Amino acid sequence: MKINNRLKTIGDLVPLSSYPLDIGCDHALLSIYLVKEKNIPKAVASDNKSGPLKKAKENIKFYKVEDKVELIKAEGLDSYKEGIDTITISGMGGLNINRILEDNKKYLKNINTLILSPNNYSLAVKRKLVKLGYYIDNEVLVKENNIIYEIYVFKKGRKYYSYKKLFLGPVLSLKKDNIIKEYYRDLLETKKDILKVLPKSFVSKIRLTKKEIKILEKIIQNK
Ligand SMILES: C[S@@+](CC[C@H](N)C(=O)[O-])C[C@H]1O[C@@H](n2cnc3c(N)ncnc32)[C@H](O)[C@@H]1O
Repeated sequence: MKINNRLKTIGDLVPLSSYPLDIGCDHALLSIYLVKEKNIPKAVASDNKSGPLKKAKENIKFYKVEDKVELIKAEGLDSYKEGIDTITISGMGGLNINRILEDNKKYLKNINTLILSPNNYSLAVKRKLVKLGYYIDNEVLVKENNIIYEIYVFKKGRKYYSYKKLFLGPVLSLKKDNIIKEYYRDLLETKKDILKVLPKSFVSKIRLTKKEIKILEKIIQNK
């Protein structure tokens, strides 16, 4: 089936024995990929808007997986069903992802794996997940149309991370790959731009941004 590399990478990180829920499914291609290409027996795809769900329904019919992918119209984790143990959320802002998880955290007690790919605020997402009782099992970068997408795999369990570890990514910082160097370089440029426009009164934000710039310069040198 036709699926972009970003969604395929997310799909390939989903445990094969899982019952996954994709929140904000839009076209539902990720859930279709999981049941069609990865032989996952059943999946739930949900979205809170009618337009995407109409497209999702058409795709599910086109790929003939009506008996395997259940579509639900719901806000965030309201689409949770008993037995679901894995959640994917991608292509959304990090703060939206955090709100979805915080609003209905009672359902997380049954969730062993979360695969999250926020468009922004990824440090806030990592911090939220650690607070919710997850650790970072894997971190993957995918470059598509000149954009680097971040994909995080969280597993249930507690681990302590220093600010530096969480900021750089405990798994990512240990990997050696050109895309990782490029990702850190881009982040460094962003931090330098932020520093230029921060008002003088933002003393602690200035201090933190300078610290982040130093951390990034050091890791780029060693990559
Ligand atoms: C940009 S699309 C991403 C689609 C797909 N996940 C991907 O990565 O290609 C974001 C989708 O999330 C849905 N969405 C946004 N906030 C949501 C929420 N709180 N609950 C459920 N769906 C939401 C939107 O309607 C939209 O279809």
